[in-house]
Amino acid sequence: MVSLMNWSDDLLTGIEEIDDQHRNLFLLINRLILHKRTHGPRENLLDVLHVLVAYSQAHFRSEDHHMAASEYPLARSHSHEHLTFTKNINNFMIDYERGDEELSDKMLIFLRKWWVTHVAESDQMFVKHLKETGYIPS
Ligand SMILES: [Fe+2]
Ligand SMILES: [Fe+2]
Repeated sequence: MVSLMNWSDDLLTGIEEIDDQHRNLFLLINRLILHKRTHGPRENLLDVLHVLVAYSQAHFRSEDHHMAASEYPLARSHSHEHLTFTKNINNFMIDYERGDEELSDKMLIFLRKWWVTHVAESDQMFVKHLKETGYIPS
C-alpha cells in the first residue's frame, strides 16, 4: 500500500507562485493515495486525475517561464523531465480509462517517485540557481 506523503518546508522555493503550485500538487497526489486506500469511487478518481493533469501543465509553464527568465543552464533537461511526467501521466490516464485494475498502484508509485526525484531534487537544484543568481521573480 502506498503511504501518504509528508510535506516539508525544505521544498519551498521562495517563489510564491511555484510554492502554491507545489502545495496543491502535493495535496492532489495525497488525495489520490487516500482515494486508493479508502477504495473511493472511480468517477472521483478520474476527476482528481484531470485536475492533476491540468494543474501540472500550468505549473510546468510557470517553471519554464522562471527558468528562461533566470537563464537556468539546466532548463532543457529540467523541461524534459516535465515532458516525461506528462507523457507518463497521459498514458496512465488512457490505461485507467480502459479499466486497468492494477493501474492506480503503479500510478501512485510513479507520482510518489516523481515527487521525490523531481520536486525534491530537480526543482531544488533550480532553486539553488535562483538563490545563487539573486533572481527576482517577475
Ligand atoms: Fe515543480
Ligand atoms: Fe520542475
